[in-house]
Amino acid sequence: MKTIGVLTSGGDAPGMNAAIRAVVRTACENGIKVFGINRGYAGLIEDDVRELNIRSVSDIIHRGGTMLYSARCKEFREEAGMQKAIETCKKHGIEGIVVIGGDGSFRGARDLSLRGIPCIGVPGTIDNDIVSSDYTIGYDTCLNTIMQMVDRVRDTVESHSRCVVVEVMGNRCGDLTLNSGIAVGATAIVIPEIHFDIEKHVIERIRRTQKTDKKHFIVMVAEGIGGVEELARKIEKECGVESRAVILGHVQRGGSPTVRDRVVASQMGYKAVQLLMDGIGNRVIVQKDDHIVDFDIYEALNMERSVNTELYKIAHEISI
Ligand code: F6P
Repeated sequence: MKTIGVLTSGGDAPGMNAAIRAVVRTACENGIKVFGINRGYAGLIEDDVRELNIRSVSDIIHRGGTMLYSARCKEFREEAGMQKAIETCKKHGIEGIVVIGGDGSFRGARDLSLRGIPCIGVPGTIDNDIVSSDYTIGYDTCLNTIMQMVDRVRDTVESHSRCVVVEVMGNRCGDLTLNSGIAVGATAIVIPEIHFDIEKHVIERIRRTQKTDKKHFIVMVAEGIGGVEELARKIEKECGVESRAVILGHVQRGGSPTVRDRVVASQMGYKAVQLLMDGIGNRVIVQKDDHIVDFDIYEALNMERSVNTELYKIAHEISI
């Protein structure tokens, strides 16, 4: 392969820039031309591409967001959109693409691979919801951001002897909520993967904790569950503790990537180009048991998700 492209698609995540940098540098070091495709598949359809060199990716490893911008593109789901994208590839001689994003982006990578443009998916999303991979780029930074934000909220919650119900991002995945919930010592954690009963798992827990003289409480709720304002009102009414709801929102997606995100992104970006150099496409790069390996995209998209019930049990036993 002589020319490849790189794009970021879906919700941005800290560490995407480190992955772009690794892709561009690995390609350049091996004599391969690289095009940066702006705004994900939308940029590919609209021919919004530019050639990148080793210096184009200087001073980005420490930056959140993505220098290539990102988008969710409906047009690419249609055959006509895909054909326009293929035209752009032909025009610039792009023979393979590294797609950095989540499951939705991987579906696009699979569809392009099936149409003759080999693509390699690199998991980039704060949600950690890519079943095939133990880890997704951006997750660690996001967890640390959530922890820092909730630690701040905790200061004021403690001063006022209040309860705070915090809504955490994660799409339909509770990993961010569960892990940050442990890290902040939440009294209750509510995630979509584990059956919950608000009365038993939130109200009763708070009441039980109140009996041990605890006066402030943190309840972490995954965004898929929703209703944090209502839950705060219910807690106030039934537990007699003044309560507030906090929706952390997009603050969770920004910030300078942690060491873990920079290193994993660099490893994955490097590996993606290695595969394209060997003429291999239709794969995703994943982290499995601390190793960076690759899977067939179709296989990766059809894996079953499991939740860490042990971690949930620990959280509930120790945060009371
Ligand atoms: O996938 C990342 C994510 O931040 C999810 O956690 C959240 O559900 C979604 O994206 C929000 O999307 P948007 O930025 O389009 O509002």
